[in-house]
Amino acid sequence: MTNHVPPQSDALSPAVEQSFWHRLLDRQLTRRGAIGGAVATAAAVVLPVTISSAEATANNGGPVSTVDPKSVNPRTVPPFRAIPTGRADTITLPTGYRFQTVASWGEVFTEGGREIGFNHDYVGYFPIDMLEGGMSSTEALLTINHEYANAMFVGGDTKNRTPAQIEAEMKAVGVSVVRVRKEGREWKMVMDPRNRRIDGLTDIELTGPARGSAAVKGATMVKGSVGNCSGGQTPWGTLLTCEENVDGYQKSWEGSGYEAMHQGWVTEIDPFDAAWMPKKRTAMGRFRHENVAITVAKDGRVVGYMGDDMQDACVYKFVSRGKYDPANRAANRDLLTEGDLYVANFGNGSWVLLDYDKNKKLQDAKGTDGKALFANQADVLADARASALALGGTPVDRPEDIEIHPKTGEVYVALTNNAKHGNYFGQIVKFRENGDDWTATSFLWEVFAVGGPQSGFASPDNLVFDPYGNLWMVTDNSDLASNPIKGYHGNNAMFFFATEGPSAGKAHRFAIGPVDAELTGPVFSPDGKTLFLAVQHPGEDSESMDKLRSNFAAKPGSNVPRPTLVAIEGFPGWRA
Ligand code: FEO
Ligand code: CA
Ligand code: CA
Repeated sequence: MTNHVPPQSDALSPAVEQSFWHRLLDRQLTRRGAIGGAVATAAAVVLPVTISSAEATANNGGPVSTVDPKSVNPRTVPPFRAIPTGRADTITLPTGYRFQTVASWGEVFTEGGREIGFNHDYVGYFPIDMLEGGMSSTEALLTINHEYANAMFVGGDTKNRTPAQIEAEMKAVGVSVVRVRKEGREWKMVMDPRNRRIDGLTDIELTGPARGSAAVKGATMVKGSVGNCSGGQTPWGTLLTCEENVDGYQKSWEGSGYEAMHQGWVTEIDPFDAAWMPKKRTAMGRFRHENVAITVAKDGRVVGYMGDDMQDACVYKFVSRGKYDPANRAANRDLLTEGDLYVANFGNGSWVLLDYDKNKKLQDAKGTDGKALFANQADVLADARASALALGGTPVDRPEDIEIHPKTGEVYVALTNNAKHGNYFGQIVKFRENGDDWTATSFLWEVFAVGGPQSGFASPDNLVFDPYGNLWMVTDNSDLASNPIKGYHGNNAMFFFATEGPSAGKAHRFAIGPVDAELTGPVFSPDGKTLFLAVQHPGEDSESMDKLRSNFAAKPGSNVPRPTLVAIEGFPGWRA
């Protein structure tokens, strides 16, 4: 989204301080440079990882692939001819590829007349036959996150908003669950009793250690899920939607009953079962949740990697107490209620447990006013950022999406940028857990790709692996105002990276978004032939409805741009 952080009006100011993270980065990149350049050596320093058959059941946040990752060699070159930067008000693709719109803001998609929400972000692909063990690549329940509502487009007035306008905004955020089917060459929304909206007013249950605690003002039930940025899918077929930017609504939605402490969590939603009330998983902590990458460890515990998208904030890992049972979906739906939350210390490559009862530093932590920061584990979870920093978690440069390589098990993290420390372009880093065990308490990390004018990309945001282990990334330069990055980067774009071979880590531009838009939510169908991609905030920098900068996906007879889900096809070389 655009307003993640205070505007970087002086983004290239020389008054930057080097952070601990930047000293670590320097050390990594200097070491790489000494042995032949970051990109060229990226593959060389990665040791092979063997994944057991149990681990092969892991779901890396996308659908289960129809391709056995161990039997397919990832490409070392992209399946398209890379395109140059562009500024057109459309989706620009390489020759041979095409897109179609599937779900635009305002389209009715439920029997009860509910509409697709605003500003699409994460997209989950749940094959329609998933619960029967199928992996349909032509029919699915899709979940679409709606990160925030632009008041000008949704309510028409940004200054004197009425309670009705605020309610319209609350109903435009959250998640849409929508059945889609491929008919001939076209993907279409299909009416289904499971189609529904979870929005800013939906009843949601709090679960885990903070349920009913003072930190959440005693609540066990709350209203709504907001700030729905990226997310993840569980192997048992539920959505995890991540609540990211939630603090501003206390003022913006004043009088609506909005409570910020009830937001900023990971919320689990069952797209297949509308009767199952969505659950907020307080055991996974409260911070600016970008996404969660879920997998199953060798011992059956469920592991989730998460980023706190803020300048100088941390990377987290959740390990469930219980174990995944492929034959017991009902029990799996409780797995994220209890577990351990860790923060990454990149200085010594360790995971530090955030547990009030086991850690005296948390019991003794004091704020600047001299008062104890935490009284119990609920407090620790509700302010996971303060807890993490108290225990030596490493503040990094806005951790956005995290994904797990389907073949190697390595964990990739997009660090968008951090102008505060002179990082205008961002990096993608990756780490391997000790012993290739996702529950390990130590890891080794390295830089995978470095943004900048030479590598051609800036501000990596959402990541997704295709079924072959290639990495795809979309950028978000929205926050950078007049930063000269935009001069060479053009509109936000999508890139392909091989993860093996001599060009591992090299960026190849695949798609370019419309004016002012950010491309979000990339997800492939299990056969890798369709890429679903969301177009968020086209025309967002428009001064007024009379001076629109974009008309992307406008309704016939209108020129108002609409956030839209598109399907991209034309991947000719994907057949195994
Ligand atoms: Fe909503 Fe950090 O992107
Ligand atoms: Ca994002
Ligand atoms: Ca992702």
